Amino acid sequence: MSDSTFPPKPFFGEELASCHPNGETLELLARRRSTVANNMDHPGPDADQLNELLRIAARVPDHGKLAPWRFILFEGDARAAFGTVLRKAFTAANPDAPAELLDFEEKRFTRAPTVVAVISRVTENHKIPEWEQILSSGAVCQTLLIAASAMGFAAQWLTEWYAFDEEVKQALGLGPSERVAGFVYLGTATEPPRERTRADLSALISRWAG
Ligand SMILES: Cc1cc2nc3c(=O)[nH]c(=O)nc-3n(C[C@H](O)[C@H](O)[C@H](O)COP(=O)(O)O)c2cc1C
Repeated sequence: MSDSTFPPKPFFGEELASCHPNGETLELLARRRSTVANNMDHPGPDADQLNELLRIAARVPDHGKLAPWRFILFEGDARAAFGTVLRKAFTAANPDAPAELLDFEEKRFTRAPTVVAVISRVTENHKIPEWEQILSSGAVCQTLLIAASAMGFAAQWLTEWYAFDEEVKQALGLGPSERVAGFVYLGTATEPPRERTRADLSALISRWAG
């Protein structure tokens, strides 16, 4: 990995900028859109790019420096192989599901070249509230989306049914204090996304006036 390709990793104690005024970053955030996994294809990030994306995603605010998250990567053949788990779990939950639907469920991870499972891992009975630890996992997912976009990749944050399925969680090796924060699909868009409806902020912003 060369620092000419990726921003250099700061060393511990290095003085860092308190802000990064940058119109391109603002444009990315103001115009960012998810690309649905169905509209993704190769290429996805290569090994160096993915390492860099995860390093950036792991720089989120983290009260207590607990790193209350971890990553499980699905690339290459592992995506199709995990389909066996998805098919079995879906069949168990939906015994009457038609074969076409099972085929679809089995192929979910092959929709994109790379799937990153962001796992929330909570330290229970800690002075840092569980809620804050969980929020940090959400920040990891969002930062991963933004970094992927800045690196030139399409991305989508999904949970779908399999984030909550006990059999799938077991196959992922999740412990009792772990949950899937999201499956972040990464790849290249086969068609550009279009703007969606947005929340009416005027109904969501108030000013506290005592
Ligand atoms: C925690 C979380 C889980 C999500 N899971 C799904 C999902 O299972 N299926 C889906 O269609 N969208 C899901 N989304 C929404 C998409 O990631 C995406 O935000 C949505 O398509 C809107 O697009 P945008 O990100 O461009 O605004 C999820 C979002 C979040 C934050």
